[in-house]
This record gives sequence, structure tokens and C-alpha cells, in this order.
Amino acid sequence: MRLIILGPPGAGKGTQAQRLVEKHGLVQLSTGDMLRDAAAAGTPVGKQAKALMDQGSLVPDEVVINIISERLDEPDVRKGFVLDGFPRTLKQADALEGLLAEKGLPLDGVILLAVDDDALVERVGGRYTCAKCGEIYHDANKKPAVEGVCDVCGSHEFKRRADDNAETMRTRLHAFYKDTSPLVGYYYAKGRLRTVDGMATPEKVAAAIEDVMGELKG
Ligand code: AP5
Ligand code: MG
Repeated sequence: MRLIILGPPGAGKGTQAQRLVEKHGLVQLSTGDMLRDAAAAGTPVGKQAKALMDQGSLVPDEVVINIISERLDEPDVRKGFVLDGFPRTLKQADALEGLLAEKGLPLDGVILLAVDDDALVERVGGRYTCAKCGEIYHDANKKPAVEGVCDVCGSHEFKRRADDNAETMRTRLHAFYKDTSPLVGYYYAKGRLRTVDGMATPEKVAAAIEDVMGELKG
């Protein structure tokens, strides 16, 4: 299955994408994770991206389109993928249409996670991830079963994102409403959009996504 998970910052895109990797063997294509990896590696693209990400602004379309285009050429994506955080502008969405057509990988659907702004701020404020495997946690909503030990890989190291603060979150939300929310109409008009209540628990959101996937397959 080939899906996009669309939603504002902190909506739960990464959380749900990780579940789809575990449950369905899909490949998670997160431009945010790819850019953070590039920044950590200190590549020229990574350095340029880091400055923009730290202030909550979008990275230029050409940069992320190139990254996704190259990633879509790798053989593992043939088993199905979930795009998380891409596309984020109409230009990226148009470019994606072209790339998927060219590579013979048509999209099955787009799932929008609908979450209230107040909840988004609370979610990113409490988020941390395993420094080794990237599993996503939250101070209140999702703690590891054993405090200080990652459920998935057993690591004791965790990290927080530089852009998860109240000030940057305002810029990220602004970018979402200005540049990314037009994609809701874009995919609705193509008959591809399915909306899921992202305010529910992660388990209920996952179940609703399973239902949507069932409908898309049928
Ligand atoms: P990116 O990494 O994509 O960040 P984002 O869109 O801001 O989304 P987040 O990763 O913050 O949230 P999420 O929806 O994945 O939520 P999560 O599952 O972690 O992008 C970062 C930056 O990179 C951008 O600002 C931009 O600069 C750049 N960038 C990336 N892609 C780009 C592109 N295509 N074009 C241009 N620039 C780009 O969950 C959040 C928290 O909530 C966690 O703690 C989790 O445990 C908790 N949680 C999850 N689900 C629930 C639930 N149902 N109930 C309660 N808590 C929950
Ligand atoms: Mg994410």
C-alpha cells in the first residue's frame, strides 16, 4: 500500500507511520527524519536545512523534492510506503504526482490526522524519542514500560528536538495553515482524502487508519 499521512506538527504522523512499518512492513518516508539525519551528518544540505528547521520554517521545495525522488528509487519502497511530512506544499504535491507516475508507484490514499491546535502544542512540548531507534514517546501520553528504557531496542538514551518549543511551534503551525493545508482541498478534489480523528488515543487512531486501509483496498 502507498499512503500519505497528512497533518499539522505534532498530529501523530510519525507515531502512526512507525505502527504501519511494524504492522504492514511499509517503508516510512519522513522528510523531517531525513533532514535531521543530514543535519547530524553535517552535509551542505543538512546545514542549510538545520537553520530553517530550528526556526520552524519550511526547507525549499527543490531540496525536499530531490531527497524524496532519490529515496523513491531505492528498491525497498517497492514493498509499499507511507509518506510522513511530505508533500507539504502544492509544488511538492505536483512534483510527487509526476515522480510516482514516472516510477510506476501510484498512490492508494491520503490520510489526514485532524487534531486541535492546543493538543498539538501539548504533544510536541512533551515529546522525546529514543536516540538509538527513533521510537517516539511523550512525557504524559506515552511513557516507556520501564522508565528510562526504550520499549523497542532497550537503549537508555533519549533526545528532544530543537524545534519542539512554544516559539518555533507558532512558526510551524503558521507554515502548516499557510502552505500545507491547501493540500487538503487538493487531495479531496482528487477523491483520495480520508480524514481520521487524531484526537483519539494512538490505538484508536491506528484502528481508524486500519479501517481506511481496508476501504482503500476494497
Ligand atoms: P517534521 O519532522 O515532519 O515535523 P512536523 O510536521 O512538525 O511533525 P512532527 O514530527 O512534529 O509531528 P508528528 O505528526 O510526526 O507527531 P508525532 O507522532 O511525533 O518536520 C520538521 C521540519 O523539517 C519542518 O518544520 C521543516 O522545517 C522541515 N521539513 C520536513 N519536511 C519538509 C517538507 N516536505 N518541506 C519543507 N520542509 C520540511 O507525535 C507528537 C507527540 O504526540 C509524541 O510525543 C507522541 O507520543 C504524541 N502522540 C502521538 N499521537 C498521539 C495521540 N493520538 N494522543 C496523544 N499523544 C499522541
Ligand atoms: Mg514526525
